[in-house]
Amino acid sequence: MLVSAKEMLQKAKAGHYAVGQFNINNLEWTKAILQTAQELNSPVILGVSEGAGKYMTGFKTVVGMVNGMMEELNITVPVALHLDHGTFEGCLKCVEAGFSSIMFDGSHYPIEENIEKTKELVKICAEHGMSLEAEVGSIGGEEDGVVGAGECADPNECKMIADLGIDFLAAGIGNIHGKYPENWKGLSFETLDAIQKLTGDLPLVLHGGTGIPADMIKKAIDLGVSKINVNTECQLSFADATRKYIEAGKDLQGKGYDPRKLLAPGTEAIKATVKEKMELFGSVGKA
Ligand code: 13P
Repeated sequence: MLVSAKEMLQKAKAGHYAVGQFNINNLEWTKAILQTAQELNSPVILGVSEGAGKYMTGFKTVVGMVNGMMEELNITVPVALHLDHGTFEGCLKCVEAGFSSIMFDGSHYPIEENIEKTKELVKICAEHGMSLEAEVGSIGGEEDGVVGAGECADPNECKMIADLGIDFLAAGIGNIHGKYPENWKGLSFETLDAIQKLTGDLPLVLHGGTGIPADMIKKAIDLGVSKINVNTECQLSFADATRKYIEAGKDLQGKGYDPRKLLAPGTEAIKATVKEKMELFGSVGKA
């Protein structure tokens, strides 16, 4: 059964480790992540962006697939199904569809509006036993070839949002989605430290987990990060393994064109990436 991410992240914060959020795109992704979490006895958060939800034909399909898979694969570790960077409307749809956790990304609104909308969702999530992530300070990244720098959140605004009763907070600390550019300045630990001092026990979320060096990940965990989002890195390892399979001409040998064979190396590559991250984040054995 799916669980809210509240308890697993409070435990992570108290135990000084982080739980990975791995974004899913299809059946292979979901299966690889669930199996790895079970094998390593680690809690896990499955992230679904609105775009990925649409790709999988809608949130209800996602809920059906994940619930079915957990039962058929006998997954017993804590699993949360979480909307990633949701709009207000997207959040409501996920509540209705049976997600166990949502992120409302109101970071592009003026702070007053972010507060108003977040407050409303705090109430709705409480009624449904779901966890809620909010965001302050937008997270940069590549869009149409333009790389936006990651903003640093205002710690006082973080405190205002934290006080609304959310379960965990994503705050921009110079992190960006996708690959980091050559001239990236690194995470702002000064900002993270200031945010944690004001928000206390609230678990903090680090987006853009792909490509952040291990020492920075460790330091971020030391400063209160308890959830780390990884998406691009699984996509890169999947693509790399699939390309190698095709370049080696394996799809042309025997029944190598069978999707169950063609997608197998990519699926294994996702498992390896997820394992590496869970080991780095310290969540192995914490289920
Ligand atoms: P990456 O794609 O950079 O790993 O970021 C994932 C993320 O933060 C999803 O919200």
